[in-house]
Amino acid sequence: MEVSLVTILLLALCLSCLLLLFRGDGRGTKARLPPGPQPLPFIGNLPHLDAKNIIRSILALSKQYGSIFTIHMGSRPVVVLCGYQTVKEALVDQGEEFSGRGDMPVLFRFTQGNGIAFSNGEKWKILRRFAIQTLRDFGMGRRSIEERIQEEAQCLVEEFAKTKEPFDPTFLLGCSVSNVICSIVFGDRFDYKDQHFLTFIGLINDNFRLFSSPCAQMYNIFPHVMYYLPGPHNQIFANFEKLRALVKEMAKAHQATLDPSCPRDYMDSFLLKMQQEKEDPLSFFHDDTLIMTTHNLFFAGTETLGTTLRYALLILMKFPKVTAKVQEEIMKVIGSQRSPSITDRAKMPYTDAVIHEVQRFADIIPMGIPHALTRDTHFQGFFFPEGTNVLPFLHSVHRDPTQFKSPDAFDPAHFLDGNGAFRRRDAFMPFSAGKRLCLGEALARMELFLFLTTLLQRFTFQPTCPREQLDLSPLMSGIGSVPRPYAFRALSR
Ligand code: HEM
Repeated sequence: MEVSLVTILLLALCLSCLLLLFRGDGRGTKARLPPGPQPLPFIGNLPHLDAKNIIRSILALSKQYGSIFTIHMGSRPVVVLCGYQTVKEALVDQGEEFSGRGDMPVLFRFTQGNGIAFSNGEKWKILRRFAIQTLRDFGMGRRSIEERIQEEAQCLVEEFAKTKEPFDPTFLLGCSVSNVICSIVFGDRFDYKDQHFLTFIGLINDNFRLFSSPCAQMYNIFPHVMYYLPGPHNQIFANFEKLRALVKEMAKAHQATLDPSCPRDYMDSFLLKMQQEKEDPLSFFHDDTLIMTTHNLFFAGTETLGTTLRYALLILMKFPKVTAKVQEEIMKVIGSQRSPSITDRAKMPYTDAVIHEVQRFADIIPMGIPHALTRDTHFQGFFFPEGTNVLPFLHSVHRDPTQFKSPDAFDPAHFLDGNGAFRRRDAFMPFSAGKRLCLGEALARMELFLFLTTLLQRFTFQPTCPREQLDLSPLMSGIGSVPRPYAFRALSR
């Protein structure tokens, strides 16, 4: 085994060097990519990128090379965009050109470009449009889904109220946000002890953790080598096969009770579309795209929200004066008797500003998700051929000193004007910007407001250590930024 692994690595090394020799460094004769650190054969800029703190490495490079530069992931060049102005000029002003999805080999191995998040071209446009329309039909950003979130927030309050000892809220928060997606996609919520539900969210959590692991990063850089190597990255593919089987089971149960005149949820609507287009050989609606789009909605919509809520509660414990002001606003506008409603948000500028500032400060997808050029493009004096990979470094937008007065501090005033009214900021990009803008933004913003106000209406959260010791820096920062684990007591108000 040892010998064969070494042989494979050597072969891969030779092959990559040959590829480099024949293809140059990816900047073919036409391409004029921005300068960056000198890449080494095979490993590219690996020595410049600290796998444990890739954010710091990219920040350091931006100090040296400015707001646009090229790094090499192995032999693949990736253009990094930094700061509000450059990211906006690309994703918004030249939105169509920058709307392709870049390479993430670790994900491609199981998506095969079949979902929304990792597809391109017509397939992406059609599947994205269908998902947005169907989510709207089932109430995303509207009243019917608001009632579902309110119900789920009450279930969460009941679970919190049962706790007698300090606890880590990760599991319960994860269950409640997953249940909101479940009710849209599968038509129903699950009990927090339901075995199917627990397996499903367990697999998604496990994969989210594994995606940020060094092994997954190595897979993205050296897919052809890592494909053959043992290691934790293989668990991602094993987990995915289990997820695929679970979604197939759900689809079968839906198919058996499907009423074409009355689709109950996203899955019913997709199955009906498959039926309508079954004679069309060019249709994008088939088993694989059903499984991948379902996976996308869960994957993109649960960990992101669970992590943001977990960060929010940690930040609120760290800043009790901010929490007290939010609770004061809750009492003034909503009181203690009725459930918060989305129409309250317009009357609660301070709470709205705090939630925006939590998202800016927590910055849970710091590197964005890679984009790719959909056609040959001139940008800021450079020339990017079609397919060039681009990384919109969202962290640098959220920490841009030209946009935020004290970018490294948590300060709700970033989103308030001099009169205490809510102030929108263009450099607020936790959901990214342009044509690939997160399609769950409206749902996510609704959930964040309703879950947080419901929890703060009912509880005050007491940390298990002195507040000064609460550390807001992320535990790890790769594809996702994850807060350090903590526990609290939920004291009823
Ligand atoms: C706080 C919560 C959330 C955050 C911070 C977030 C953030 C993001 C970001 C940064 C992207 C990448 C956009 C780009 O490529 O430039 C994205 C894409 C996406 N998000 Fe979200 N998201 C959240 C919640 C959700 C929810 C609730 C859903 C599902 C209903 C969802 C579904 C998606 C999908 C399907 C994509 C891929 C879009 C595409 O490639 O066209 N997200 N999200």
